[in-house]
Order: sequence, then C-alpha cells, then structure tokens
Amino acid sequence: MAVCVSLINMKGGVGKTTLASQIAWYAVRQMDRKVLLIDLDPQANASQSVMSPQEWVTYLDDGGLTVADIFEQFTPTGTASGSPKKLDPSRVIYDRVTYEDGSLLHLVPSRLELSWTLRNPTGKETLLARFVAKVQEKYNLILIDCSPTDSILTDAAYHCSRYILVPIRAEFLASIGFPLLNRSIKAFQMRHEDKVIEVCGLVFNDFVRGNEKREHRLARKDVKDKATEYRWDVFKKDIPHSDSYFWAARDGMPIDRTKGAHGKVKDEFAAFAEEFFGKIGL
Ligand SMILES: Nc1ncnc2c1ncn2[C@@H]1O[C@H](COP(=O)(O)OP(=O)(O)OP(=O)(O)O)[C@@H](O)[C@H]1O
Ligand SMILES: [Mg+2]
Repeated sequence: MAVCVSLINMKGGVGKTTLASQIAWYAVRQMDRKVLLIDLDPQANASQSVMSPQEWVTYLDDGGLTVADIFEQFTPTGTASGSPKKLDPSRVIYDRVTYEDGSLLHLVPSRLELSWTLRNPTGKETLLARFVAKVQEKYNLILIDCSPTDSILTDAAYHCSRYILVPIRAEFLASIGFPLLNRSIKAFQMRHEDKVIEVCGLVFNDFVRGNEKREHRLARKDVKDKATEYRWDVFKKDIPHSDSYFWAARDGMPIDRTKGAHGKVKDEFAAFAEEFFGKIGL
C-alpha cells in the first residue's frame, strides 16, 4: 500500500514541483519503487517537466485525460445522452518509460482547466482520494504536487495524504505562510477526526552556497522558530542552489541524468532523499 505525501507551501516558487519530480525519480531509479506523481496544480508544471512541454501538449490534443477529469467525472455534460460514466483510473495515468534502464514513472497529468473545479467545487473534495484508494495497491509512493493557494484542491490532497512535505527558501517572509498552513491542516483535521496527517518536515531549498547573507540567516532562524512552535521537523539536509535543477525540469530528467550535474549536487540530493524516505518509513 502506497505512502501518500503532498508537497505544500502556500508560498509560490519554493521548489514544490522540483522536489516532487526529483523525489519521484529518485524513488523509481535509485530505490526501485513504484511511484505515482499526481499533478494537482492547474499550472501543470510537474506534467510539463516529466512529459516535456511538447509531449504534454500532444497528450492533451490527443484527448488524454488529466486530474481535472477526476474532479469533473460526475459533472453533467449538458447533452441529453451525457449520462455519468465511471472513470477508468488507468485512463488518467500516463506511463513515462524512459532511459535504457527502463525506469518507469507514472503521472496523473494536469491542465489549466483544473481551475474550473475551483469555480464549482461542491462535493468534489473526496474524488481524488477515491481515485487514490483504487490505485494505491499498485504503488509504494504517491506524491502530490500542490499549487501555492489554499483551496478545495488542498483539501483534496489532505484527504489522500499521510504526510506533508514543505519546501522553503531561506529568505524574507519565508515563514509568513506557516500559520495559514498550520491552520489549514488543523481545520481539516477537526472536520475529519479519523484522518491522521503529519508534516514530515520542512526542507530548505535553493540556498546559495558559501557565505550565507544576514538576511538568509535571519529567515532560517525565523523558520526554525516557527517550526519548533508547531512541532514540525526541519530536515537536517538542505538542498543547495544548482542550475542542474533547472535543466532537469526543462528536459524532464532526474537530476543525476542532467549534463554537467556535479557529483556533489547528486550526493546532496541523495542525502536529502534518504533522510526523507527514512522519515516516511519507505
Ligand atoms: N535547488 C534549486 N536550485 C536551482 N533552482 C531551483 C532549485 N529549486 C527550484 N529551482 C527553480 O526555482 C523555480 C521554482 O521552482 P518550482 O517550480 O519547483 O517551485 P514551486 O514551489 O513548485 O512553484 P509554484 O508555487 O509556482 O508551483 C524553478 O525555475 C526551478 O527550476
Ligand atoms: Mg509548482
């Protein structure tokens, strides 16, 4: 049965998508695990990164299904013959087989139209969890890449998740969204007392090596103080800045396959990944 982890931070551009796809690749390629990555962001960056932007467009043009279809499966079509049909879960899963080693990553792609769900969200917040319940036997790990806003989609992610991973940048206002996240998780748990969700940790991402600026040191302290207050762990292993993450996203690649990724960058990501997998017991 899969462990399900959502990557959430109500602050944008902190590395949720980057880490979701790199953790997914790491689990598939280095640990030989079966992984499903669910793109729950209408921006669809995880889909574009894993599939490549061109392949993602072709997939949509060819009528490929996405996470939006999970949320809209019972939405009336407006035609007389449009009676609701059961969605076959395998039809929303895109298999990305790649490289000579045959490594296989499964993806539920997203598309901009997912934001339509936000306009009419009534009764839809458990549909993703129902989908996950149908497929989770097939996987060891399910990762959900969330958008930076709190919405019905965040609730849908909570319904599926055992753990929340929070990427952060050590910069001014880094911890400003934490009370919102804390409140959002707490409010959800009050509404669903049987549901256990844990923040498995905050990870500092994209920090510049060398002499840390005063502003970054202060931000780091601020984040750590808030984390202590909420009893959230901070990962011991940080993820430093490297252009390899950008190249990896552009070429839809695991970090260890990017041209010119230094051994050090790979080792640093691996160290974080091992700590992460230890925390979630995988
Ligand atoms: N460790 C890193 N080193 C260098 N660049 C990074 C690193 N982590 C992320 N980036 C870059 O920062 C940008 C934002 O990252 P990403 O898209 O993963 O953030 P996000 O939290 O998913 O954003 P959003 O909230 O918009 O979904 C991307 O261009 C990505 O390539
Ligand atoms: Mg993102």
